[in-house]
Amino acid sequence: MQYKFPDNFWWGAATSGPQSEGRFHKVHKSVFDHWYDIEPEAFFDRVGPNVASNFYNDYVQDIAFMKEVGLNSVRTSIQWTRLMKDFEAGTVEPEAAEFYRKVIEEFLRQGIRPVINLHHFDLPVELYEKYGGWESKEVVELFVIFAQKCFELFGGQVKDWITFNEPMVVAEGEYLYQFHYPNVVDGKKACQVIYNLNLASAKVIEAFHRSSCAKQGGRIGIVLNLTPAYPRSQDEADIKAAAFAEDFKNNAFLYPAVKGVFPQSLTDVLKEDGVLWDSTPEELAIIKENTVDFLGINYYHPFRAKARENAFDESRGWLPEKHFEEYEMPGARMNPYRGWEIYPQAIYDIAIEVRDKCGNIPWYVAENGMGVEGEEKFRNRDGYIEDDYRIDFLKEHLACLHKAIAEGSNCFGFHMWTPIDCWSWKNAYKNRYGFIAVDLSNQQKTIKKSGYWMKEVSQNNGF
Ligand code: BG6
Repeated sequence: MQYKFPDNFWWGAATSGPQSEGRFHKVHKSVFDHWYDIEPEAFFDRVGPNVASNFYNDYVQDIAFMKEVGLNSVRTSIQWTRLMKDFEAGTVEPEAAEFYRKVIEEFLRQGIRPVINLHHFDLPVELYEKYGGWESKEVVELFVIFAQKCFELFGGQVKDWITFNEPMVVAEGEYLYQFHYPNVVDGKKACQVIYNLNLASAKVIEAFHRSSCAKQGGRIGIVLNLTPAYPRSQDEADIKAAAFAEDFKNNAFLYPAVKGVFPQSLTDVLKEDGVLWDSTPEELAIIKENTVDFLGINYYHPFRAKARENAFDESRGWLPEKHFEEYEMPGARMNPYRGWEIYPQAIYDIAIEVRDKCGNIPWYVAENGMGVEGEEKFRNRDGYIEDDYRIDFLKEHLACLHKAIAEGSNCFGFHMWTPIDCWSWKNAYKNRYGFIAVDLSNQQKTIKKSGYWMKEVSQNNGF
């Protein structure tokens, strides 16, 4: 075998509550539930989160599918808007607690390690309306209350916890680039949200480490989407532009998560630009003292940056693009079915960066995968999807990861996005990612060729 991975390697996949469960029996609405209710046409084919992949009703069958494709660990999330009866009083919906208890038990019964995430873009809309959502520090406190409830209820069974999935996407989607409700464009607020999310993560980590979960051998991390920023050229101006993009997009969460401090090169620029967040010495001390036990890293594509060639358009206020322009590299290899650049080398670069700049903290690939629009056209006469392109994509990324592990990067697992095709926010079911396909007309699920491939990889611990 050419690529053998370390013992006990996680071969798994990731999904989230709002993208898989459906809204059955939910009392509160998330910002996405609300957005779909008021503007369904904003979603691809007008498909919303109401049914998703029906995990709420089908979880026993779905987890059996996950087992069938060889997954030994799976990440999903507990929905804040499902679990809590009252966000402020900290009371719980008994039916929701029972649902998550049964889901976790089913994972364990099937020998699949559940990795539980507390936030996957699903802020309760009431907390946006009442407090301004992640702009507000009250919401930080309410999130800690929710997290503590989760630890209390499920800490006995779940050993691996995640505070946030892709917090940068919350700031970008809600406050910069208009792909998450409330679709505001406000760079200053985006910076405050970045800070508040870091603070919320640190406070949840603090609560976790004080809880019985830590004493029972539990650990807690964060899942960050890293898009390594590569400069167009070795010219000083391009390098400077890429360095700012790297700081803003990646290090604004990576450094506080693992080092407990924000990169000074970032805070200097934000201060100079008048958009630095409000912080207090007490909060900064909490961030300093409460770093993660492990890291999850989502990698899909790199970011190519160049120095600004056109004057920055000030009409929408401050944006990070004041300091760089995105650059389309001529000849870049693109995923023809999703439009993202395919660059497996970046997974090696990330792994080495974690080894050298983040104290070689234990980490895993928490998402990687290939989105394919119109994947039904690859269904063959025997009724299953022949996704060889996905198998090739995974092999190439895993080969780069393998090289970095051989060179000492402390990576303990690989999760693909996603086990079962799931609902993906504004893109709904446009881009399919799963090992298992879903027919939306009847909720029939079928294993794709990549699922059978993954089963072998997992059984052999390599390929
Ligand atoms: C990841 C998110 O970044 O991308 C997921 O964590 C999301 O929630 C996935 O579904 C795929 O996104 P898209 O837009 O290609 O469907």
